[in-house]
Amino acid sequence: MESPVAAAGARGTEAVAGEGPVIGGASQGSAVSVPKGVARWKLLRQVLKQKQLDDCLKHVSVRRFESFNLFSVTEAKKRGTEEEAGVWVQYTSILYPEYSISLRFNSGSLNVEDVLTSFDNTGNVCIWPAEEVLAYYCLKHRNIFRDLAVCELGGGMTCLAGLMVAISADVKEVLLTDGNEKAIRNVDSIITSNRKTGVFKAQKVSSRVLRWDNETDVSQLEGHFDIVMCADCLFLDQYRASLIDAIKRLLQPTGKAMVFAPCRGNTLNQFCSLAEKAGFSLQRHENYDEHISNFHSKLKKENSDLYEENLHYPLLLILTKMA
Ligand SMILES: C[S@@+](CC[C@H](N)C(=O)[O-])C[C@H]1O[C@@H](n2cnc3c(N)ncnc32)[C@H](O)[C@@H]1O
Repeated sequence: MESPVAAAGARGTEAVAGEGPVIGGASQGSAVSVPKGVARWKLLRQVLKQKQLDDCLKHVSVRRFESFNLFSVTEAKKRGTEEEAGVWVQYTSILYPEYSISLRFNSGSLNVEDVLTSFDNTGNVCIWPAEEVLAYYCLKHRNIFRDLAVCELGGGMTCLAGLMVAISADVKEVLLTDGNEKAIRNVDSIITSNRKTGVFKAQKVSSRVLRWDNETDVSQLEGHFDIVMCADCLFLDQYRASLIDAIKRLLQPTGKAMVFAPCRGNTLNQFCSLAEKAGFSLQRHENYDEHISNFHSKLKKENSDLYEENLHYPLLLILTKMA
């Protein structure tokens, strides 16, 4: 069977029984008649065959995300300029509908070359559920970001959570990052487009390629951030230690990291042990939000054939730097 490792480029080997993160919105499929696994493999097969993504992907990408029911997604009008071409959607928080952002998906142009020659492409496939949970959590707790410098690591092709901070919080600065250049080109165009509509509350919003294992990328921003956050980035065996090192170095001495990820076998536990060894004090939260906990219980009860806690339910880790 094909694996997400082959389909999405280089990545960790411990993505648990061949299953990568679920496709955002492909789950609990009332909107789609095929099971989410089938839809995902179809999508990834198409990527490898260098076919333009067909209506199936568009459907997956633009319909309302159903796993934790946090964002509604509506297709946006076609954009005029070439720079703005692509699939644009409006992502709106369901619980905080005053917060809404225009996003572009890196859909049609992920081709064989991208997959085989570029760095990890898992962030160019879709917005994964943990990212949506992090984004929602940031909206709910937007007051904690006041006057702070915030960095999102491994934010994928939209860096949705960092964008939610930028539109909702009186934050000093938001830096959106990923190790994949194509993802960051997409984030650049999202920032440019939303800046025109004046949606950002943050004083400064920017994006850049930042690889956790790249000394220059990390050292240039050493000690700069009050909060570093990431979603679904712990399953990459070869980068787990460098992710912890990057978090530690990017944070200022009293800084905190907010990390959302599903257990995925032992990968979250491995991250926790490494973080403690690196001198972080660690809090692990399984019930961090009533809405998410209730939805999780409902999914376990009603969708046990599709929903697997180990792969789909993000836990929250708070890492605090110890002096
Ligand atoms: C599963 S994706 C998660 C993307 C996004 N957070 C989401 O949940 O939708 C993992 C992300 O980590 C990024 N990544 C993997 N290894 C990295 C590294 N060494 N440095 C920076 N980013 C990395 C990938 O490019 C990818 O976007």
